[in-house]
Amino acid sequence: MNVYDAARMSDVLAPLGYRHVETPQDADLVILNTCHIREKAAEKVYSELGRLRDLKQDRAEGKAPMMIGVAGCVAQAEGAEMVRRAPYVDLVFGPQTYHRLPEMVARATRETSGLSGAGRGIIDTNFPVEQKFDFLPEAASQGPSAFLTIQEGCDRFCAFCVVPYTRGAEYSRPVAEVLAEARQLVCGGAREITLLGQNVNAYHGESPSGGEWRLAALVAELAGIAGLERIRYTTSHPRDMTRDLITAHGEIDTLMPYLHLPVQSGSDDILRAMNRQHTAHDYLNIIDGLRAARPDIALSSDFIVGHPGETDADFEATMGLIRKVGYAQAYSFKYSPRPGTPAAAMEDAVPEDVKSERLARLQSLINEQQVLFNETFVGRTIPVLLDRLGRSDTQRAGRSPWMHSVHVDFDTLAAATRAFGRTVELQILSAHPNSLAATPVWDAGATLQEPATV
Ligand code: 5AD
Ligand code: SF4
Repeated sequence: MNVYDAARMSDVLAPLGYRHVETPQDADLVILNTCHIREKAAEKVYSELGRLRDLKQDRAEGKAPMMIGVAGCVAQAEGAEMVRRAPYVDLVFGPQTYHRLPEMVARATRETSGLSGAGRGIIDTNFPVEQKFDFLPEAASQGPSAFLTIQEGCDRFCAFCVVPYTRGAEYSRPVAEVLAEARQLVCGGAREITLLGQNVNAYHGESPSGGEWRLAALVAELAGIAGLERIRYTTSHPRDMTRDLITAHGEIDTLMPYLHLPVQSGSDDILRAMNRQHTAHDYLNIIDGLRAARPDIALSSDFIVGHPGETDADFEATMGLIRKVGYAQAYSFKYSPRPGTPAAAMEDAVPEDVKSERLARLQSLINEQQVLFNETFVGRTIPVLLDRLGRSDTQRAGRSPWMHSVHVDFDTLAAATRAFGRTVELQILSAHPNSLAATPVWDAGATLQEPATV
């Protein structure tokens, strides 16, 4: 979502004459868009700010002054504290106020003249009653694969998680607004759209005819947009995995056969301590339902090891669940106490070395599963949306329906250029832990050497 938000910040700044530059040295305005989910991410912000302060000072001596902004959830959580610790920061604003960037930039130019050390940074960490989406300009093209935020915030309050405090209460964008943005993205060249939300399957947007639509209905409507070949959504909560959403995976071809459905732990005691509101059994039932609807669906999850109170037996239950499910990939983290969350006040902290040992064991099991999953694709021909340039002139890279990163070498630059931005049939030559290598399947019917498209 930070990628999406950063793109929207660019959209809002474009009318003021701002455009992207390659390095911070060349920038008149640098915005760090930050994440507060774990301590490590939050710490990075201050070390990065230290580097920017030096750049800002260098520039102040000759060139136009540089303005520094901090956006996102660290800004939201730190607010005025950030300007106290880093007085050279000009703007501090949370995820819900970036539509006000033009005013903030104008004020900062007027009041602080963008000079360093002023300590008069502008702070906007409100949760405004107006919705930023109503004030943002049309989304600019994001290329073949685009993000679209449909839902923000979270009301689930998992005990370990800071999101409900930094992103705020759950909010779903109206259906009409989402459809308009999706059409806009497709007109701009998007063939794949990933619907985003902190708890995306809690979506319950106002429908065009009054009432509310859940995510399954929205996806079905989006599937009708001509030219939109692929739909994904992330991240979901098991409790919001409604029956109609599960069956949608079997009914809507353009809904990709890959789902990121975090379980966090396989132990019911820990799930209860986490306030996840589901058991391991509930989760496994959902997975069974998804596989019944779409047998080739690939699954991914998030895991936290070392949540307060996690015993060896609890951790073994997580390992058991992973073996039962068989994941295509997963993200795993050591529990990191976040200020203000219920888990941060819990006793029975797990020692750091135990967390590290558990994380290593869990990651090696996931890696094994990932390698096995990837190897089943060798020799198969699969459609890949090529949305990235590769390491050489003639290499391109993209994603399979199952989210593999796939790279392919074409014979000529012309062939690579023609295939770029399209969904192309590729034969998988070899599997690596994090990617697949492929070769084009030539379209026998075409007069030119055209790669076969879908
Ligand atoms: N410590 C460790 N991991 C966390 N996550 C969220 N909060 C914490 C925390 N306090 C992880 C969860 C979530 C993912 C986005 O980040 O696994 O699903
Ligand atoms: Fe955080 Fe996700 Fe739980 Fe919401 S559902 S509190 S975003 S982990």
